[in-house]
Amino acid sequence: MGKQLGVLAMYMNKRHLEELSFFRKLCIIGERLGLEVLIFTPDDVHQNGTMIHTLTYRGTERRWVRKWSKFPPIIYDRCRYHGAVNFRKLSHFRKKYTKLRYISKPLANKWKMHQLLSEHPGIAPHLPATIRYREPRELGDFLKKHAVVYMKPKSGTGGRGIIRLQRVGGIPALLMQGRDPARRIIPARKITVEQIPLRLAGWKLNERYIVQQGIPLELKDGRVHDFRMLVQKDGDGEWQVTGCAGRIGPRQSVTSNLHGGGTAVAMETLLKKRFSSEQKVSEIRNEAYELGLRIALHLEKKFGPFCEAGLDLAVDPKGHVWLLEVNPKPSREVFNRIGEKETYRRAISRPLEYALWLIR
Ligand SMILES: Nc1ncnc2c1ncn2[C@@H]1O[C@H](COP(=O)(O)OP(=O)(O)OP(=O)(O)O)[C@@H](O)[C@H]1O
Ligand SMILES: [Mg+2]
Repeated sequence: MGKQLGVLAMYMNKRHLEELSFFRKLCIIGERLGLEVLIFTPDDVHQNGTMIHTLTYRGTERRWVRKWSKFPPIIYDRCRYHGAVNFRKLSHFRKKYTKLRYISKPLANKWKMHQLLSEHPGIAPHLPATIRYREPRELGDFLKKHAVVYMKPKSGTGGRGIIRLQRVGGIPALLMQGRDPARRIIPARKITVEQIPLRLAGWKLNERYIVQQGIPLELKDGRVHDFRMLVQKDGDGEWQVTGCAGRIGPRQSVTSNLHGGGTAVAMETLLKKRFSSEQKVSEIRNEAYELGLRIALHLEKKFGPFCEAGLDLAVDPKGHVWLLEVNPKPSREVFNRIGEKETYRRAISRPLEYALWLIR
């Protein structure tokens, strides 16, 4: 039997797969590398888990084909959170098929992640101060220490339900802006810390939210920015930084996510705009790269082997590098958007090369 990699996906409404174009590229590059990529969802498992009805793209024939297959030994899990029904199906699948080797998996929520990363003395100085949300008074105290804070759901994605609070004038006057859980922009308005539970009623602040020191990321034109770094295992099983790209949020937005209307730019371009000396730019870049690798190695110690992570990084006006968030199932479109074709290609081929290395 040839070498195979299973890609675990999820049907959205009408049996539509979320990342079909990425999957197609995986299949094409896999074919060239001698690895057959088989895409399936928990709904495609039949005959008591012995056979799966998979989907694969044949690059040479330029078409999608359905194919019956046994379970591939290695699984690349690409499922993101899409509602409770899907989530239950997935947890059921992961629990039932524990013998399979997963090269990507959910890691930890933002709070747990903060705690795990704080343990490492080489990572801790790069983490914004973070607490769990409990009550307005504690939030008020946190705001005395930090002029800007971000409130984020522990398990949120895509910039949904993220609020920025900014001290204006004397406490308790705050400027609140952000995005609601449907990612709609909440325009800036003044508020007191005591009014927050009522204003955000139904957001389940106590159960779901963390509060994080805000890193100043406004560019001259008022838009915010940050960086997305992709760290991946290569074909020798070693961690590498595949690439890093800048993201600039749209006007009136306190988040930079591409899905929220952000624009992608090359890391160098963005850093050069903010820091005049070449040397400073390369120092920052090196620091970010070293930090990325340190984080990947530390997470692997905690969670076991996996193939990649997307790191949201911020660089403050002094040039200090901060880690905002770790994404265990990162998209790689940002490199395509900035025209870094080689980085983009490598971002797709690396998980395949890593899988081949594991098989060997
Ligand atoms: N502490 C912070 N200081 C400044 N900006 C922040 C901070 N936390 C988040 N942001 C902004 O909000 C954006 C979204 O935050 P974060 O990445 O933590 O959550 P998310 O986008 O919802 O998760 P995902 O990346 O999985 O989609 C960041 O990319 C950044 O632009
Ligand atoms: Mg993010």
